[in-house]
Amino acid sequence: MRVAPVDIAGLAKLILSPECKSIAVLTGAGVSVASGIPDFRSPGGMYDTLCPDLITATPAQRNAMKHEPMAVVTWEMFEQNSFPYMEVRRPFILGTKNHQWKATIAHRFFELLHVKTNKLTRIFTQNIDGLDHQCKKIPTEKIVNVHGSISSASCEGCGTKMDFVKFCEAVETNIKDIYNPESGPKESTPILCGNCKKPLVKPTTVLFGRSLPSQFFERVQEDLPNLDLLIVAGTSLVVSPANSLCYSVPQSTVRVIVNQEPVGEELGIDYSPESTHDFFAQGKCDDVFLELIIALGWLDDLNVKDLP
Ligand code: OAD
Repeated sequence: MRVAPVDIAGLAKLILSPECKSIAVLTGAGVSVASGIPDFRSPGGMYDTLCPDLITATPAQRNAMKHEPMAVVTWEMFEQNSFPYMEVRRPFILGTKNHQWKATIAHRFFELLHVKTNKLTRIFTQNIDGLDHQCKKIPTEKIVNVHGSISSASCEGCGTKMDFVKFCEAVETNIKDIYNPESGPKESTPILCGNCKKPLVKPTTVLFGRSLPSQFFERVQEDLPNLDLLIVAGTSLVVSPANSLCYSVPQSTVRVIVNQEPVGEELGIDYSPESTHDFFAQGKCDDVFLELIIALGWLDDLNVKDLP
């Protein structure tokens, strides 16, 4: 029997139905694109626009980044040389400090979902941009920052925290702006940890090769068994263990994928017309969630002045 909706009107009906009691959301960079933050893997995304030749690195490290741009966010490279990560992340760190980006319609939909239905169990966000936290009506404990956050800083070696404003001042002056070589110092100089003195201070994001916050595993255990609906939005679903949510939910959980293109087929998302549990809402996140907000009759609750 088909339990998944076949269109947005059906999804709205499902959300409002008494049988649907618990809803979780898994988001990726695509939900923040409308705010002006590029994603990782699309053309024009962070990995596509990486300029290894401009980064303060050894020839071997530059080669590694040319071969696999993701190397820039690995513990392996950061431990050897913190500059590639710090130089690439510089505009994002300073933009965060300056509150450059606003929560999108997608983020506001999750907030409305909580306020209007009280069915939002959790947002698992892979994003480090903090835009979910701009939606102040969502209790903080409902948001799991699976890959950490760019809006605080600590030493990746010993864990000592650094004041974020002081950290940003150092990023502004010590780390060169590789995308605008004229404006920054010619070479980056390290930001040393006040405790261990190592040059390993960075935003509290999770590097590949490091552990995810224990909160992720705890909430997965707690939330998934009783989940009625999982909304997966704006993620390529290529990074584990975040993508494991898709196949860890019970058989009875309806999965809704909101994305520009099909993702996660290898994880068992079923895009065939025979699919009984999956619904693919293809399009830009903000367009799809706006349509859903309208279908739910919540448009008057969307505050246009909050939007990007
Ligand atoms: P990706 O860049 O891998 O995937 C973004 C997905 O969103 C792609 O499928 C895009 O087609 C889609 N997309 C982009 N803009 C969209 C829009 N406006 N509306 C709908 N879909 C859109 O980003 P993530 O899946 O978030 O991890 O990447 C996962 C992790 O890989 C990140 O958290 C980061 C990265 O390496 C770490 O750095 C640890």
